[in-house]
Amino acid sequence: MQLLRLVRPALVLVTLALAAVSLAPAQGTSAAAAAAGSAGDAQVARGRYLVTITGCNDCHTPGTFYGAPDAERFLAGSELGWAGPWGVVYAANLTPDPETGLGKWKPEEIAKTIRTGNRPDGRQLAGAMPWLDYSNLTDADAMAIASYLRTLKPVRHAVPKPLPPGTEAKGPTLAFPPPSAWDAPRAAAGEKK
Ligand code: HEC
Repeated sequence: MQLLRLVRPALVLVTLALAAVSLAPAQGTSAAAAAAGSAGDAQVARGRYLVTITGCNDCHTPGTFYGAPDAERFLAGSELGWAGPWGVVYAANLTPDPETGLGKWKPEEIAKTIRTGNRPDGRQLAGAMPWLDYSNLTDADAMAIASYLRTLKPVRHAVPKPLPPGTEAKGPTLAFPPPSAWDAPRAAAGEKK
C-alpha cells in the first residue's frame, strides 16, 4: 500500500514528462503552420463578419427575405427579380462554382465589382446591388470579403439572365415603380443642372 502511494505520483510525473517530450516537436510544426495561415484566417474571418453585417445574405441567399435563409444554398443567388427602370436583375450566385458562380473571378475582380458595381465584362450592375454603399469599403475590407467568398461551399445554380427594360419577367419580381418627384434621381444622364 505504502509502495503504491509512492509509485503512483512518480508514474504520473513520468507520463507527464513523456507527454511533454512527444508534444514538443508537434507544437513546433503546428505553430509554424499557424503563423503562416493566421494572416489568411484573420482575413477570411474579417470577410465573414463583413458579409454578415452588410446584408449580402438578404438578397443573395434564397429565403432570407422570408425569414428562412437556406443554409444549403448559402449565397448561391436568388430567382426573385428586381424589376425597375433598369429592367429585371437577379442577385448573383456568389459561391465559387466555376460555371454559375464566382469560381473563375480573381479576388481583385470580386473586390472591384463590389465597390464599383462594374463587372469584369464591363456591365454596370443595377443600383439594387448596393455597390454605392460598398464603394466606401477599404481595399483591405473589400479583399477580405472576396477571400471569404472563395471559402464558401460551391453551389451549382445559374440565376436568370438580366432582362432589358420593358421585358416581362417569367418568375416573381420585386417591382420598383417609377419614382415620385422627391425620389427621382437628380443626376440622371444628360440632365441639365
Ligand atoms: C439589396 C440586395 C442586395 C444586397 C444587400 C447585396 N447584393 Fe449583390 N447583387 C444584388 C443584385 C440584384 C445583383 C445583380 C445586379 C445586376 O445584375 O445588375 C447583385 C450582384 C452582385 C455581384 C455581381 C456578380 C455577378 O455575377 O454579376 C456581386 C459580386 C455581388 N452582388 C456581391 C455582393 C456582396 C459581397 C454583398 C454584400 C457585401 C452584396 N452583393 C449585397 C443584390 C444585392
